[in-house]
Amino acid sequence: MEFIDLKSQQALIKEKINQRINVILDHGKYIMGPEVYELEKRLSIYTNTKFCVTCSSGTDALLISLLAKGIGPGDAVITTPFTYISTAEVISLLGAIPIFVDIYPTTFNLDPSNIEAAIAYAKQKKITPKAIIAVDLFGLPARYRLLKKVSEENGLFLIEDAAQSFGGNINNVKAGKFGDVACTSFFPAKPLGCYGDGGAIFTDDENLAEIMKSVRVHGSNGYDKYENIRIGLNGRLDTIQAAILIEKLKIFNTELDLREKISNYYDLNISDNFTKQYIPKNYFTSRAQYSLLANSSQHRKDIMQILKKNNIPSMIYYKIPLHLQSVFKNLGYKKGSLKNSENISQRIFSLPMHPYLKRVDQDIIIELINNIN
Ligand SMILES: Cc1ncc(COP(=O)(O)O)c(C=O)c1O
Repeated sequence: MEFIDLKSQQALIKEKINQRINVILDHGKYIMGPEVYELEKRLSIYTNTKFCVTCSSGTDALLISLLAKGIGPGDAVITTPFTYISTAEVISLLGAIPIFVDIYPTTFNLDPSNIEAAIAYAKQKKITPKAIIAVDLFGLPARYRLLKKVSEENGLFLIEDAAQSFGGNINNVKAGKFGDVACTSFFPAKPLGCYGDGGAIFTDDENLAEIMKSVRVHGSNGYDKYENIRIGLNGRLDTIQAAILIEKLKIFNTELDLREKISNYYDLNISDNFTKQYIPKNYFTSRAQYSLLANSSQHRKDIMQILKKNNIPSMIYYKIPLHLQSVFKNLGYKKGSLKNSENISQRIFSLPMHPYLKRVDQDIIIELINNIN
């Protein structure tokens, strides 16, 4: 059994992908070929955003957004510690300071009621709070109604890290539409993944979209590759990856339905001995991961061992919250400073989740974990 089965999906679309790649081999526009622009159009339509800027990864999507806003030394960016390293790494790369705020113990997403205190903390440290990066964990959009309010009240730029949530929505507003900009990842294991690294940024702000396009190509002026007007990156999405994503996007909604069916089956049949991620009313998660809380770290260890003995892969996202990672030691956070993130890191684990997970395998997993005390 696979944790994420990309082979079954590939078998379904292989023919079409081969055709698409052959077209690219013929036209030879490997960098910023027509498929990149076609994908951007399709992604804009899918997310109902005015502008889509594809790029080289989810990490670069975040980096390009922060660079476009001129965030750097002396600035603070507020974010969650219960996420992948990329979310905070990009802040530090630019010389700004990440300020971590705790999450809800139910949804595992950033709790907006902690943001005012983070702003006060930044001011006390004489750094200027400039932005919030909220993460849509495991596919579930963060609480944007409140995040928008607090960011507007305090003049903060709001970034949606939608690396895990492409296809998720709140009241039918899709992930990618929240915040001033939203960043997603096309890493192969993501809900919409390519066959390498890739990412995209969404915004309704034309001026920002133009700056981000410039940052994506070494800060070029937009028409002359050798005239550069700002510091940027080599942050483009490959034409071949764009073509693969165009084909994958065609089956994406069907795959979302399959993910939803599997997670509903897990929800219904996994015993109450485990705590499930709370999905608020009118929120739809794209189920990048199916994660549960064990009762304790020992309980989690026992479960994962039994799963392993039965050749069932399981993973921990995330076992060390970012504020306790040694790379961020200099920020001065201590154990106990962000209690929900720390508690959940000790207990969380994820089960296999992908659209092609067979019912018999779901049943094996459910039976195994329900029989553990
Ligand atoms: C929350 C979050 N942000 C950012 C990223 C970075 O995406 P990428 O791997 O495409 O750089 C990831 C990838 O795992 C992620 O989970």
